[in-house]
Amino acid sequence: MKVIFVITEATPFLKLGGLGEVGGSLPAALQRLGVDVRVIMPKYKGIPDYFRQKLQLISEFKVPVGWRSQDCGLQAMTHQGIKYYFIDNDYYFSRQSIYDEFDKAEQFAFFSRAVLEALLHIPECKPDIVHCHDWPTALIPLMLKAFYQRDPLYYRLKTVFTIHNMEYQGIFPEEVLYDVLGLDKSYYTEDTLKVEGGINYMKAALIHADQITTVSPTYAREIQTAYFGRGLEGWVQKRSESLKGILNGLDYDLYNPAQDPLLKVPYGDSTQPKLDNKLYLQSLLNLPIRGDVPLLGMVTRLTEQKGIDLLAHILEEIMDLDVQLVILGAGNMYYENRLHCLAEKYPEKLAVRTTYSDELAHKIFAGADLFIMPSRFEPCGMSQMMAMHYGAVPVVRNTGGLSDTVISYDNDAERGNGFSFGNYNAHELLYVIQRAIKLFREDQQAWKRIQDNAMHSDFSWEHSAQEYIKIYRSLVEIA
Ligand code: GLC
Repeated sequence: MKVIFVITEATPFLKLGGLGEVGGSLPAALQRLGVDVRVIMPKYKGIPDYFRQKLQLISEFKVPVGWRSQDCGLQAMTHQGIKYYFIDNDYYFSRQSIYDEFDKAEQFAFFSRAVLEALLHIPECKPDIVHCHDWPTALIPLMLKAFYQRDPLYYRLKTVFTIHNMEYQGIFPEEVLYDVLGLDKSYYTEDTLKVEGGINYMKAALIHADQITTVSPTYAREIQTAYFGRGLEGWVQKRSESLKGILNGLDYDLYNPAQDPLLKVPYGDSTQPKLDNKLYLQSLLNLPIRGDVPLLGMVTRLTEQKGIDLLAHILEEIMDLDVQLVILGAGNMYYENRLHCLAEKYPEKLAVRTTYSDELAHKIFAGADLFIMPSRFEPCGMSQMMAMHYGAVPVVRNTGGLSDTVISYDNDAERGNGFSFGNYNAHELLYVIQRAIKLFREDQQAWKRIQDNAMHSDFSWEHSAQEYIKIYRSLVEIA
């Protein structure tokens, strides 16, 4: 079985969020189970030099973009046994931001077409499956049918499209269809790419991909409703027979408290050293050094998806409690400023860092007693799994992958591995935090059990990789 993974982020080359975690670890998990996986991604400016220096040129060719054609280089390197290909074009990819450029419709149309052209230049690969991820790669199943169907190389090729986030769909003006994609008006109908306001890349994948997956079973159900489907729910429903929710895994090589070089004191089964990590985190962030105070952690993007508006609403009430709260995350300027102001007002209780730091993230997972993640929606969520594996008890909203990973202590005192609340309501969040803190203070035994359950929840990639393999097999068998 040969699979080409097309993705726009992958650790250790470039990671903005959960997508990059998946790009870095799912291919390795598939490979361990015997699949020949190769990854193709753009050669971004942000990829560190020590990787760029190792790249070897495979080929150079032209890629059609509407009526024009653009130069493209295909470069490759092998990293930890996996072959990575990079689509090289300075004009499109030598930029600071990744998804926010004014011409992103063209950037990712180029990338998608370049991937299909690139396959001709790696004949030894001859894939069975192209596995695409999120809107930047969503045109591939369509382009395959529109431009390449007759070529023997592509004839039997099947496509899988994974939705990591329905919020970002790639909606662009109608002209993009003609000027950038080189398609005609027959693609501008309700049954094709047309949506209110123009054309929709993700819709193209929902129509044309052979199989659709998303990153948790609950999110697979949710996106068939208007609130989560964001206008595409009808198209998701139409494909519900070919839709599967497969929970992401956690890369235990990267996230292992027993062997984590970023921790002050690594720890295995005994959680005692967590206290040392907590005291260290407090000193690092200039908070009073106190073992007894419940330390709440949050590692997040500061966007409304992540429920930052809920937290902001009750922050002063949290500050009335005897707690400490550490927030790491960048994003929306309004919330960044608001948090900085509050951190000045409550220097003994609140520490805020509005940057992106893997190192501090690990230290927070290790030092926090509770991990707060009140997402409005959450396709899978990775940081709750990381936090849990480090023994920080999660407090989450019951949605998407959070529902599929956290068992609330309130519903199941034996198996509970965290706390959850249902409605998107700031005071529900406050009450569940208060309940959790009360238990932390008053029932050490119950607390320890929740913490152990969290640390031992099985989020290994193997199970998910097997699910993907079942899908790949079924597609290849049909062919
Ligand atoms: C997106 C989703 C997140 C998910 C990640 C990886 O970032 O918002 O919930 O964990 O993709 O699939």
